Amino acid sequence: MRWAMTRASSPLPRGAVIGMVGGGQLGRMTSMAAARLGYRTHILSDNPDDPAMDVAWRHTRLSSAEDAAAIAAFAAAVDVITFETENLPLPLLALLEAQPHCRPSAAVVRLCGDRAEEKRFLQAIGVPTAPWAPVATAEEIEAFRRQAGGRAIVKTCRSGYDGKGQMRVADATAAARAAEALAGKALIAEAVLDFTCEVSVVLARDVAGRIAAFDVTHNLHREGILRESRVPAPIAPEVAARALAAARRVAEGLDYVGIMALEMFVMPDGAVLANEIAPRPHNSGHWTMDACAASQFEQHVRAICGLPLADPTRHADAVMENLIGPEGAARWEELLAKPRCVPHWYGKAEARPGRKLGHATTLAPFGTGGHGPRGGSML
Ligand SMILES: Nc1ncnc2c1ncn2[C@@H]1O[C@H](COP(=O)(O)OP(=O)(O)OP(=O)(O)O)[C@@H](O)[C@H]1O
Ligand SMILES: [Mg+2]
Repeated sequence: MRWAMTRASSPLPRGAVIGMVGGGQLGRMTSMAAARLGYRTHILSDNPDDPAMDVAWRHTRLSSAEDAAAIAAFAAAVDVITFETENLPLPLLALLEAQPHCRPSAAVVRLCGDRAEEKRFLQAIGVPTAPWAPVATAEEIEAFRRQAGGRAIVKTCRSGYDGKGQMRVADATAAARAAEALAGKALIAEAVLDFTCEVSVVLARDVAGRIAAFDVTHNLHREGILRESRVPAPIAPEVAARALAAARRVAEGLDYVGIMALEMFVMPDGAVLANEIAPRPHNSGHWTMDACAASQFEQHVRAICGLPLADPTRHADAVMENLIGPEGAARWEELLAKPRCVPHWYGKAEARPGRKLGHATTLAPFGTGGHGPRGGSML
């Protein structure tokens, strides 16, 4: 550590180096926000050509999750360590847990990377979730499915994203198939919810515990992948308040520092059930880049570097669309020409199907999207 973080709240000086574990699009967009505030970013990943390296300052190559020498060199070269993914191998997280300058802490990232641990934590702090249980065998999956009203989703505890590592189960044959396909992995089963909509709250918490939350976002998924995020969300003010309160409780319960997201399901009776916690910038917060004075990436940099959080108010209504796979890439020219549309490209080497290659946010004047303007809040 080049500048010891002697006082928890003393800001890192301009020129300080943010160490980022992971080099994907979230690391890339955080690096761009960091540069604008005068910080440099140093990426730890297994690939020196990761998307973040178009805009980051330095790279340390991780040859394996147990590459203690690389992790030690990286940790010594940066002033604060942060993350762009929670899908990290346990040995890597264990090595990072020994580093005192992680924001959020590596233990928090580990918890959020394990669906069972995450759900136990949510239960412990009184944030409701879908009914769930740890499962290991076809019999356990089948018993859960019957008890859950006939339909369940089996999910791997670790390493799932964009709907990967999940199987829906609606009869005993499917239960057996899921147990076989996912054998050897720690699993949970969840009841399938007939929700009204999916929402998320993206918020930042600083080292002094202050919280700034962006507006509740409405998220539309297809095939387990986020396709579109919209603000304002089509929910009643009391539902929005419930979502914000749940996200705040999570941030406080984790003593969180940085940006985080809570994904939630809104039920027909207005109840809000937590789905998962993302200990990092989140796809559903990308609209903040164009509809707020300070984006989720800037807010993250501010929080982890000890700067004051920015006002999270939005100045526009927004629809963010993900550009996924070759079909998404094919829309680039059209989006470049679209009025009030801000396209973002991630610079990935290959346009594989199902891969997020970029996104585009279309803006409308604040308050024209219906459902009553709200605008972000300091909690
Ligand atoms: N219990 C459930 N009931 C109904 N739909 C669900 C349930 N769990 C997940 N889904 C659907 O599948 C999507 C992906 O699930 P989840 O968030 O658990 O997976 P993921 O792979 O971590 O996704 P991501 O990392 O992209 O958020 C959800 O956003 C939702 O649309
Ligand atoms: Mg999810």
